[in-house]
Amino acid sequence: MYPILRKKELSTGIWEIVAKAPMIAETAKPGNFVILMVDEKGERVPLTIVSTDPEEGSVRMVVQEIGKSTKLIATLNEGDSFTDLVGPLGIPTHIEKKGTVVMVAGGIGIAPLIPQIRGNKAVGNHVITIMGAKTNGLYILKEEVEEISDEVIFATDDGSFGFHGFVTGALEELIKSGRKIDEVVTIGPMRMMKAVSELTKKYDIPTVVSLNAIMVDGTGMCGCCRVTVDGNVKFSCVDGPEFDAHKVNFDELIQRQSFFAGMEKESLELFKEKVGECKCHSK
Ligand code: FES
Repeated sequence: MYPILRKKELSTGIWEIVAKAPMIAETAKPGNFVILMVDEKGERVPLTIVSTDPEEGSVRMVVQEIGKSTKLIATLNEGDSFTDLVGPLGIPTHIEKKGTVVMVAGGIGIAPLIPQIRGNKAVGNHVITIMGAKTNGLYILKEEVEEISDEVIFATDDGSFGFHGFVTGALEELIKSGRKIDEVVTIGPMRMMKAVSELTKKYDIPTVVSLNAIMVDGTGMCGCCRVTVDGNVKFSCVDGPEFDAHKVNFDELIQRQSFFAGMEKESLELFKEKVGECKCHSK
């Protein structure tokens, strides 16, 4: 069992969870992720590791309530435990001194970018982080990102804070300003990553994406997380989750992401009915 040590709501429906997992805390590197299960019959939920504390033996994760399983995770509190927490999974990010690296995050995508920012700073890269949100009140981990990045550019869809528009607009403005950019790393909604990739391709800037593909086993056996990269089939869980953005077939991935939407909706409705009846799941 993996007890929850701390839990905090970062924004409506977005939770930071710190769980005890000493082996993972000792060995995890930027780019790694974990798969957790709330109970023996639960769905296997992949989550990126935001940070670890080897002394405490803990891992910090961020989860957004979207479907049944993430809502179920959010019902757990300090002292409750996950039945399983498997990791570190995936290939760690290859981080080397490049010069200026721009991190582009949309929404909750900023959480998995935090280890990337720290890793790039550690090797001496200049890190500019572009954080996008629908509106000012929806940013998470803002202070932490400001503290660990060299520069931060904020973008909001409604113009309530920073650049008025999408992260791609802020990124293009930065590129056009003449700043030399050696690499872009992007994590966020699939359509945002596709747009970032198309933009950087136009300017010939190497770009890495971390794909949040649908996963089941996380060990390369089920084929659920497959993605076409440069015409070849890859599995996000064992070949990724990071890939050369300019070689990823995003259209196929976006189509696959919506494949289970009907079943997910049905499952969520059933869950809501159940939680409504069950006092023990109230927060
Ligand atoms: Fe099953 Fe990757 S999650 S192959």
